[in-house]
Amino acid sequence: MTANILDGKALSAQILQQVRQNVEARLSAGKRLPALAVILVGEEPASAIYVRNKRRSCETASVRSVSHDLPASTTQEALLALIDQLNEDPEIDGILVQLPLPKHIEAETVIERIHPDKDVDGFHPYNIGRLALRLPTLRPCTPRGVMTLLKASGEELKGKHAVIVGASNIVGRPMGLELLLAGCTVTTTHRFTRDLKSFVSQAEILVVAVGKPKFIPGEWIREGAMVIDVGINRLPDNSICGDVDFETARQRAAWITPVPGGVGPMTVATLLENTLEAAQRHAP
Ligand code: GUN
Repeated sequence: MTANILDGKALSAQILQQVRQNVEARLSAGKRLPALAVILVGEEPASAIYVRNKRRSCETASVRSVSHDLPASTTQEALLALIDQLNEDPEIDGILVQLPLPKHIEAETVIERIHPDKDVDGFHPYNIGRLALRLPTLRPCTPRGVMTLLKASGEELKGKHAVIVGASNIVGRPMGLELLLAGCTVTTTHRFTRDLKSFVSQAEILVVAVGKPKFIPGEWIREGAMVIDVGINRLPDNSICGDVDFETARQRAAWITPVPGGVGPMTVATLLENTLEAAQRHAP
């Protein structure tokens, strides 16, 4: 078997055009552009690239992007004050604080300060709680983007055994909630899991988000699996690879995401979907 490609690049481009059409319809109805405030603290190169992609996609989707680039020395108090100001601003629909933050700033405190209605990352405990209770509102971008990709395959997801490798707040945990909501049987594995291979080899849907290049060998993949690789790792030769060994995994999987061009662009497109939804809720 050679896997079909789950083409996140193509699908994300379609999503951005859909958002744009919706925005244009809102403009015709006399409403303003949706607006997303993107806050970057410090100069981590990977974060700077992600933020640049997010701002570019705002342009494609006709969403107004408001940039706040702050020095690494920014205090937590100053960042919280900026969030308070954006929470109060009726012209702002979404607030995104790029993670990770410098060590002297507590991410949990910052996330909880964002008003849940403007939390387009879907990380606020209120929004995670809603997802856990099957009452989703704003949903974390990467897991929601993965669900959009999985559904685009046309495969039935209900009843499938989904195995997640990695239990982070940003991907693994909300991914489990999304897959559960879609009717999958969910296993979440993490750094303390014993005999990882035995779980991975049972997966009809495998989602890997650990940030380690080619961590999952192709031989572990179940024949006919749907393989979602969330990892974006830079190799010493400057090339990019995922957390799954793509060349061997594609021989066994039925569906697989490439890196780059799989989950990455879906995360960004989903952020724009979330921003449109937040705007629709502010001004229906
Ligand atoms: N850092 C890595 N992924 C993400 C994400 O989805 N949102 C934010 N804000 N930061 C991230």
